[in-house]
Amino acid sequence: MVAVVAKLRTIHRCTDCGNASPKWAGRCGACGAWNTMVEEVEEALRPAVAAAALLAPADRPVPLAEVDLAEWSPRPTGLTELDRVLGGGLVPGSATVLGGEPGIGKSTLLLQALSSLAARGARCLLVTAEESKQQVKLRAERLGAREPTLWLVSETSLPNILAAVAEVAPDVVVLDSIQTVFDPELGSAPGSVVQVRECAHQLVRMAKERAITTVLVGHVTKEGTLAGPRVLEHLVDTVLSFEGERHHALRLLRAVKHRFGPTGELGLFEMADEGLRAVPDPSGLFLGDRRAGVPGSVVVPAMEGHRPLLVELQALVAPSALAMPRRSAQGLDSGRLSLLVAVLDRRVGLSLAGADVYASAVGGVRVAEPAADLALALALVSALTGAVLPPDLVACGEVGLGGEVRQVSQCERRLTEAARLGFGTAVVPASAPGVPAGMEAIRVRSLAEAVAALDLQPAPGGAMAP
Ligand code: TYD
Ligand code: MG
Repeated sequence: MVAVVAKLRTIHRCTDCGNASPKWAGRCGACGAWNTMVEEVEEALRPAVAAAALLAPADRPVPLAEVDLAEWSPRPTGLTELDRVLGGGLVPGSATVLGGEPGIGKSTLLLQALSSLAARGARCLLVTAEESKQQVKLRAERLGAREPTLWLVSETSLPNILAAVAEVAPDVVVLDSIQTVFDPELGSAPGSVVQVRECAHQLVRMAKERAITTVLVGHVTKEGTLAGPRVLEHLVDTVLSFEGERHHALRLLRAVKHRFGPTGELGLFEMADEGLRAVPDPSGLFLGDRRAGVPGSVVVPAMEGHRPLLVELQALVAPSALAMPRRSAQGLDSGRLSLLVAVLDRRVGLSLAGADVYASAVGGVRVAEPAADLALALALVSALTGAVLPPDLVACGEVGLGGEVRQVSQCERRLTEAARLGFGTAVVPASAPGVPAGMEAIRVRSLAEAVAALDLQPAPGGAMAP
């Protein structure tokens, strides 16, 4: 019998990165975040955890060739967009975190997934630590979820949750959310770093031991990182991020980390009255309300993971009254916007000094890839000069600091999708592969060449267009 004594001492821990320090500091020594150190009681070694570690059977080494992969094959959830991101479905016994801002639709997505899994014969348990059973039932009515193998428990205490899981013996368990669960054996408050880490740790261990597929909901902070320590991300196999603009119906699901497959896939949903609807053909989605004949608008065939998305980029250039003119980028990378403004000034001779510049990707989608440089630069020039680009034109290419236009990845797939949606002209890097039949290519080596080829030069006098 091994006696393990729990020693209590006070430490200070960073709520962002989980770094512990004996003394309080205004700034975390590890990650540099300000005002994140909070006091907590640390138990040197928890008796239950230590005992479990001592009793756990040791793993036996086996030849690599004999490792069985069959049990690690993903099981489809039945929600096509979720399965696409997961590379086929949830792997039995895996642990997943679904992160997203409050109100984005995490609870809705997981209830739909559980309902679909239950309909496919899986035994499912939803542990709701934030809402009452009645609230979940109301949502379920709205979504039309009424499978008999979908169990529900409203509980925040970890021992009770583990007991409920043991009682139901589900194939899949969803915990909504990890931040509201607490272990009474720990001194800290729910949501604190210790609680989140310890509770997640115990749940993940249970998931592995009993081969229960586990999904934990995690809230994200304003900065977009998972609230609580980074260790949460290390504990689980998969981290999914659910994003979207609150004022748009569009929701994007991506895998930030995935031990069972690639992370490049994108799932697209639309929040409707009866829950989340898959958006199987997103390309046309962002172009629906496009107005032709307006300066400052260019469509870019962007790639999200392996999916081409046609997104309208808009720019507006207005005289500024500010000493430091405004540079606003919505759904675009602000660093790249500044870079393109500088390249236009130095390499093309179009100055935006003294002008406020607004740029956005329309439709609540984020286009951060350099392949959008050329389209954004052309939108800026069009906004500056007032020259309108043909409505059936797309542009893709990376713009370098020398003003050169560089090749982008998957150019053919991008242009094929653009051609499918009726775009007839593509401004592409000189070295781009062939364009689809019926599409005209304008090959350019530099941004200046593109501006000249499209006749975007400002009228003599060069004034800012209305
Ligand atoms: P919810 O899943 O509760 O978000 P989260 O768990 O991420 O906090 O859903 C949030 C929003 O979705 C809420 O404002 C209402 C809306 N909603 C719909 O528009 N349609 C629906 O069918 C459901 C269930 C929710
Ligand atoms: Mg919720």
